Amino acid sequence: GEGLFTYDPGFVATAACESGITYIDGAAGVLLHRGYPIEQLADNSNYVELSYLLMFGELPTAEQYRDFAGTVGRHTMVHEQIVNFYKGFRRDAHPMAILCGVVGGLAAFYHDNLDITDAEQRHVSAIRLIAKMPTLAAMCHKYNIGQPFMYPRNDLSYAENFLHMMFGNPCESYEVNPIMAKAMDRIFMLHADHEQNASTSTVRLTGSTGANPFACISAGIAALWGPAHGGANEAVLAMLDEIGDDSEENIQRFIDKAKDKNDPFKLMGFGHRVYRNFDPRAKVMKETCDEVLRELGIADDPQLKIAKRLEQIALEDEYFIERKLYPNVDFYSGIILKAIGIPTNMFTVIFAMARTVGWISHWNEMISNGYRIGRPRQLYTGHTKRDYPSSH
Ligand code: SDX
Repeated sequence: GEGLFTYDPGFVATAACESGITYIDGAAGVLLHRGYPIEQLADNSNYVELSYLLMFGELPTAEQYRDFAGTVGRHTMVHEQIVNFYKGFRRDAHPMAILCGVVGGLAAFYHDNLDITDAEQRHVSAIRLIAKMPTLAAMCHKYNIGQPFMYPRNDLSYAENFLHMMFGNPCESYEVNPIMAKAMDRIFMLHADHEQNASTSTVRLTGSTGANPFACISAGIAALWGPAHGGANEAVLAMLDEIGDDSEENIQRFIDKAKDKNDPFKLMGFGHRVYRNFDPRAKVMKETCDEVLRELGIADDPQLKIAKRLEQIALEDEYFIERKLYPNVDFYSGIILKAIGIPTNMFTVIFAMARTVGWISHWNEMISNGYRIGRPRQLYTGHTKRDYPSSH
C-alpha cells in the first residue's frame, strides 16, 4: 500500500534527472563543464564563452562567439517601465529581495514569447535572462545608494559593463579597471554552474510544472538566498568581521563554536554536500584573491589574513578532518568582491547573476529532453483516521 517509498531527506543519494552539463567528483575534488576542467576554463576562457559552452555543449567557433556575444549585448536593456517596479521598494531593501521580484516580473514584458514548447522562444528567454541580469543587479545597488540607474554599454565586455553600471555615473566618464574586470569575469565563471545544487534543483522542479523561465529563475534566486547556499558569501564576510583579529586564540574560539553542537554557528564558506575534498573553485578563488589584492596594491588585507589563518587552523583540526570539511566556493570570493568595491549585500546577487546561465541551461535541457512533473512523496507521521467529535 501507501508508504513504501525510498526515504532520502536532503536527497543525499537520489538522482533526480539525467544531465550532460556538469560533472562533479566530490571525493577527488573535480569539476568539469561539458568535460572541460574548471581550472582550464578559469585560465583560458571567459564568462560569455563559458555560457555558450554550458548552453550548447561545445566551445564556440570565433564566428559563433561573435554572434552570441553580440546577441547577448543587444538584449542588455530592460523595459523602462521596470524602473517603476524598483521605485516601489524601500531604499534599504536587500538587493536579493528586489531581484526575486523583478526577475519574476520580467515575464510580464514577454507574454508573446513564453511558449516553452517552442525552442526558439526558449532560446530568446535564455538570452534575455543572461543579458539583463547584470542590468537588473546593478540597478538594485544604484537604488540602494540613491544614484541614477545607468544604462548598459554594449561596447564593453560582460564584466566591464557590469562594473560600469555599478560604479559609473552620468556626470563623469568611468574607466573600468582591467584588473577588476578580469577578476569579476573569473568570479562569474567560477559560479556559472554546479549541477543539481539546491537552487538549480528548484529551477528544475519549478520548470517541471511548465512554468515560464522567468518564474523558474526567480524561484532559483529565492533558493540561492539562504546562508547554507549562495547567501554564504555574504555570511563569510560578516563572520570575518565578527572574528575581528587574526590572533590564534581568537580564531580558535570561533572554531570551537563551530564544533559545538549546542551552538548553531557554522564556519561559513566551509563544507559541501558533494565535495569531501577541496572545492576546486575555492583553490582558483584563493589564487585570484592573492593576485587581485597584489595588483590593486592592497597589501596585508586584514580579512584575508583572518581567512587564511582560519582555513589553516580548521584544516588541522580533528573535527574538520573527520568530517572532510574544506573551504567551498564562497570562502574567498567575498574578499575579492570587497577589494573591487562591491558592497557586501550585493555578493549573493552576483552569485545569482553568474548562476543564471547554469539555471537556464538546466531548464532548457530538461524541457528539450522530456520530463514529468516533480512530485516527491512523504512518510506520513500524523494521526491515523479519526472522527470529528460530535460534541465540538
Ligand atoms: C554553495 O550544492 C552545491 O553545489 C552548492 C554550491 C553551488 O555552487 O551551487 O557549491 C554553492 O551553496 C556552497 C555552500 C555554502 N554554504 C556554506 O558555506 C554554509 C556552511 N556550510 C554548511 O552549512 C554545510 O556544510 C552545507 C550546507 C554546505 C552542506 O550541508 P550537508 O551536506 O547537509 O552537511 P552536514 O550539515 O550534514 O554536515 C556533516 C557534518 C555535520 O556534523 P555531524 O552532525 O556529522 O557531527 O559536518 C558538520 C555538520 O554539523 N558541518 C559543519 C560545517 N559544515 C558541516 N560544522 C561546522 N561548520 C561547517 N561549516
